[in-house]
Amino acid sequence: MQTHPDRLATVATLFGLRPAPPERCRVLELGCGDAGNLIPMALALPDASFVGVDAAPKAIARGQGLVAELGLKNVTLEARAIEELAPAAGGFDYVIAHGVYSWVPAAVRDGLLAVCREALGDAGVAYVSYNALPGGRLRQAVRDMLVFHTAELIDPRERVAQARALLRFLLEGVPGEHGLGALMRDQAERMLARSDATLLHDELAEVNDAVYFHEFAAHAVRHGLQYLAEADFFEMQIGAASDPAAQALLAIEDPVRREQYLDFLKGRMFRQTLLCRAEIAIDRAPHPEVLERLAVSTQAQPQGEPGPDGKQAFTGPTGSTLTTDHPLVIDALKRAASAWPAALWVRDVLGPQATPDDRRALCDALLRSYAANLVALHVHPPAPTTTPGEAPRASALARHQALGGQMVTNLRHASVRIEDDLGRRLVTLLDGTRDRAALTAELRSFLSDRGATVPADLPDALDRSLDGLARLALLEGP
Ligand SMILES: C[S@@+](CC[C@H](N)C(=O)[O-])C[C@H]1O[C@@H](n2cnc3c(N)ncnc32)[C@H](O)[C@@H]1O
Repeated sequence: MQTHPDRLATVATLFGLRPAPPERCRVLELGCGDAGNLIPMALALPDASFVGVDAAPKAIARGQGLVAELGLKNVTLEARAIEELAPAAGGFDYVIAHGVYSWVPAAVRDGLLAVCREALGDAGVAYVSYNALPGGRLRQAVRDMLVFHTAELIDPRERVAQARALLRFLLEGVPGEHGLGALMRDQAERMLARSDATLLHDELAEVNDAVYFHEFAAHAVRHGLQYLAEADFFEMQIGAASDPAAQALLAIEDPVRREQYLDFLKGRMFRQTLLCRAEIAIDRAPHPEVLERLAVSTQAQPQGEPGPDGKQAFTGPTGSTLTTDHPLVIDALKRAASAWPAALWVRDVLGPQATPDDRRALCDALLRSYAANLVALHVHPPAPTTTPGEAPRASALARHQALGGQMVTNLRHASVRIEDDLGRRLVTLLDGTRDRAALTAELRSFLSDRGATVPADLPDALDRSLDGLARLALLEGP
């Protein structure tokens, strides 16, 4: 989700760049694996073009197979090493390297940033994620133990099984309610919750180096790049820091130093950093009026009714809150919430009658809400439908993914889980050719074939399931 051109373009717009519109952009992904990130973007942005590169031929072949199966013409995948690439100068608007920088040797890291510089056009944006220090120290300590414990093992399944055994050993055996012991157990617990693939390819990877943000930013400078922002705007906020600490941070003018001290406070372990060419002028203080060019989407819900003072609190799914007594802001947030998972253009929410005061109030509030992770902003809003329609349609990718597992990619470029077999079967049927009666008949025979009871209210259950899939951003509009 954080790598989507909509996200990169939105953040870049807030920081004063004029990035390429996502609907016609050119994207290069380095270390793209089997293109699990590129393919949904390519489906959603048919007039944009996507190139993915990875050194693992098997992963690329899997991606190519899916590209062919989905009939995608705007994706090219190549089995190549990053350090051997010579991209056309300025040939891309967005370069993505997710989960690569910390997992490759220093020479490849150099190559990665050199490719970003060479490939990026004038207002281009690179996304590079990496493990960060000092937060990553503890994770590194546990990783060191895992590497030691599995050093003699070759079989991947055995490596994962033994890694899990050691993590359980730590979880059960490390003493102490507080301090280092508690932190170690917390870390072991987090690692145990990871999938086998993540344990194997991330934690047990041959290379897994965390860096201080200032080191990463200096590395970017050596390659003619500069720090633009984080892909998550809320990650750049001082947030819950005490007043004196917040004042001290705000007094630091150099954005790289300020971000570094923020990492000291937050103990951040992972960064998703955006870079741009060194010569580009960046406006480091986002102006609220820019939001009039953007769209907003939110899952924030009003908490009860407004108080006697007219104040209404909103809370988002991650627990962030905003309280406002401005009727226009209250109305805008309620409208955006009921439009979820689609988005509303801020200018449409304002309407033609809005006064300059109204515009300022709404844009200020939405920018604060964005900083608090209560709303998302978009230059190219996602377009899932909120009403399933006569013959509902899920994306070709979601239908394909539902055949093989529980995780499917929605139209907001997020992974969602569909746990039950019947729900997955339903998704595979949503190709836009079946109406409710045909879907009910298919689900009935699916249940009968398995000897399961067919509920008497199957048509109503179908309606409820379709509404649920729409709320999960899985249904395409007409
Ligand atoms: C941790 S995986 C991340 C994959 C994907 N970006 C993701 O987020 O799921 C790192 C990827 O980088 C690839 N890789 C490692 N070294 C590389 C190199 N020198 N050139 C190209 N790809 C490389 C690996 O094959 C692997 O697919």
